[in-house]
Amino acid sequence: MIGIFFLLGITSTVVIMIIIALWILLKRKSKEIPPKGDPAIHSICVSEELILAENACKKISIKEIYAATNNLHVHNFIGQGISGKVYKGILNGWHVAIKHIIKEGQAETFLREVTSLSHVRHPNLVILRGYCEKEHECFLVYELCSNGSLSEWLFGKPIVLSWLQRLKIAVGSARGLHFLHTYEGGCIVHRDIKPANILLADNFEAKLSDFGLSKLIDLGVSHVSSEVRGTFGYVDPEYRRNHHVNSAGDVYSFGMVLLQIISGKRMISLDMTMPASLDKMALSLSNGGNTSEFADPRMNGEFSMEAFDLVLKLAISCTAHKRLRPSMEQVVKKLERALEISARSSDIYSVSFS
Ligand SMILES: Nc1ncnc2c1ncn2[C@@H]1O[C@H](COP(=O)(O)OP(=O)(O)O)[C@@H](O)[C@H]1O
Ligand SMILES: [Mg+2]
Repeated sequence: MIGIFFLLGITSTVVIMIIIALWILLKRKSKEIPPKGDPAIHSICVSEELILAENACKKISIKEIYAATNNLHVHNFIGQGISGKVYKGILNGWHVAIKHIIKEGQAETFLREVTSLSHVRHPNLVILRGYCEKEHECFLVYELCSNGSLSEWLFGKPIVLSWLQRLKIAVGSARGLHFLHTYEGGCIVHRDIKPANILLADNFEAKLSDFGLSKLIDLGVSHVSSEVRGTFGYVDPEYRRNHHVNSAGDVYSFGMVLLQIISGKRMISLDMTMPASLDKMALSLSNGGNTSEFADPRMNGEFSMEAFDLVLKLAISCTAHKRLRPSMEQVVKKLERALEISARSSDIYSVSFS
């Protein structure tokens, strides 16, 4: 009798162990099954994870900063920002842009930039690779965007951006901003969207930079109150009045950027024969005027009029009253549609698009 119980005990233990082993095996297998949907999207996710692990934001020594920039040599200087000079360099094999910030009064901006950018990753956002903090100065190390800022291309360089290049830049930056607004941890409002903060990588892929002014809004909260930040000309008039930060303010600034992308005109016109405000000028032309007059003359009319009108209308709606503004998701969709129309009709123009 005891023998039978003993045998039964052993058998049931073995059976239980087999069941547990099978269960563990099945769980592992199910983890290995790739997610449903586009395999290309899956591969993007995997490579992004790798990039994240490889490129986590690091504390960098001052010695490394000086070595990377040839002691902040003038030949490495690439730009002057509001907060300080920017140098290019090579650090740990990466091509980087290093912002040198003299910290008096900038400490807060510095820290906000470090913490917010380092966790948020997207192909259309500039990566913050590291930082270096000293007593009276600090350095922010970003991925280098070899083609500089959109501002230089619109207003500084003799080389003209084609219509398709402009649209692709608009789509890229809109995707970056949409990502920020729908960030899983809460809506991130950029608060300083302008052509100087849209950087261009090797292939002219747009990347948003400067999250120093960004604010995280908790899910379920419609706005946070704050002192007015941003750059003159791009700040939503409503936000200027009530100091309420929300994503609609970025949509307004993005609308202003779109108007500049398609017109090649600066925000504040020095031409006294033209009205100073770009959005008012666009609005008056779209109300029965000849909208092609608004297009950048340097494009020589080489663009799809249908797509141009679509983008112009979209830009005007972005700068309208807050309630009438689209979401960045809608902006992305409209711009993608304009790109589709333009790509289809690009063979009509004589120019070649890259
Ligand atoms: N990551 C980068 N890659 C390439 N160029 C950059 C980068 N960051 C900044 N720059 C250059 O340095 C200039 C100044 O940048 P920044 O300090 O951000 O100016 P601002 O304070 O006006 O936003 C930019 O206009 C751009 O030309
Ligand atoms: Mg900037």
